[in-house]
Amino acid sequence: MKRIPISKPNITEAEKAAVMQVMESGFLAQGPRTALFEERFAALCGVKHAIAVANGTCAIQVALLANGVGPGDEVITTPFTFMATANAILVTGAKPVFVDIDDRTFNINPELIEGAITPRTKAIMPVHLYGQVCDMDTIMASTEKHGLRLIEDACKSVMASYKGKYAGSFGTGTFSFYATKNLMTGEGGMITTNDDEVAEKSRLIRSHGMKQRYYHDTIGYNFRMMDLQAAIGLAQLERLEEMTARRRFNAAYLNQHIESVITPKVQEGCEHVWHQYTVRVNSGRKRDDAIRQLNEAGIDVGVYYPVPVHKQRSLAGVIEEVPMPVAERMATEVLSLPVHPLLSEEELATIATEVNKL
Ligand SMILES: Cc1ncc(COP(=O)(O)O)c(C=O)c1O
Repeated sequence: MKRIPISKPNITEAEKAAVMQVMESGFLAQGPRTALFEERFAALCGVKHAIAVANGTCAIQVALLANGVGPGDEVITTPFTFMATANAILVTGAKPVFVDIDDRTFNINPELIEGAITPRTKAIMPVHLYGQVCDMDTIMASTEKHGLRLIEDACKSVMASYKGKYAGSFGTGTFSFYATKNLMTGEGGMITTNDDEVAEKSRLIRSHGMKQRYYHDTIGYNFRMMDLQAAIGLAQLERLEEMTARRRFNAAYLNQHIESVITPKVQEGCEHVWHQYTVRVNSGRKRDDAIRQLNEAGIDVGVYYPVPVHKQRSLAGVIEEVPMPVAERMATEVLSLPVHPLLSEEELATIATEVNKL
């Protein structure tokens, strides 16, 4: 039986040729292709600056540091995300403060944010999970009211929009180009901003605080992207619109044909990019059965994420544990189905049929 994978890197002759060109140019590390990738990515998101880095985790860490987040600060975020969101906060010396999620969107519940703000709050970091932008009007009302920094974890949401504005253009945006992402470079990341100072600081932190080689203005890291990665990203950018349209087509098909489980909701004003198509199966036991049944039918599925961040062993004793009932329940119910652009219509039909047997 041919399996239907949960994701598949979308690689064509264009990516292969682009990589070979870099190999032959002899310029493998950060160079002209990275600069061009940054320029095109900034234009895509409708922002002034894009700063390429080695991966999405680096992007978040740099964005936090460039916004002045450090020891003693608190950053409000969601517990229902990949661990990188919280780790990037923790390595700056700041403390993540979790706010529970909305069970319709799986994103941070903006109504609960005000209650989590303290004099130590420095920033809010919403995560646009699965490909859908958070309720930015309510979140930005809080950042503006309290003078807080806004850092978006848009790692899963390239080209997702809210009321006509792209993810990553509301505050400081952070993106991941990991191999399975909607736009991928194998590993890779990007910071986006309209703020000249944040952009300048991000560029310095990315490369040991150097503007001029071997003259160091600030303390920093080597978080640079390689031209090899940027070449893949440039080839992917050419097809991003088409690949996103395909994801939307696939999600619309699944929405229309799946009847047995709770299908994802798109909030008014949002254009979802369907990095993941996540349904809810109503209890841990049933979800385990559903996974087994779908796997037996040749369909690979994913659980993003089985343990919310505040419950991870690595944070025991690091943060005080506050119950997050919605995130904890979602962790037992969510199940992501294949939605990637390389699915055939026959495979889509198989997915819908098998899910409806659950
Ligand atoms: C929501 C979220 N944040 C951060 C990251 C980290 O990105 P990377 O794996 O490129 O470091 C990811 C990657 O999967 C993610 O999904």
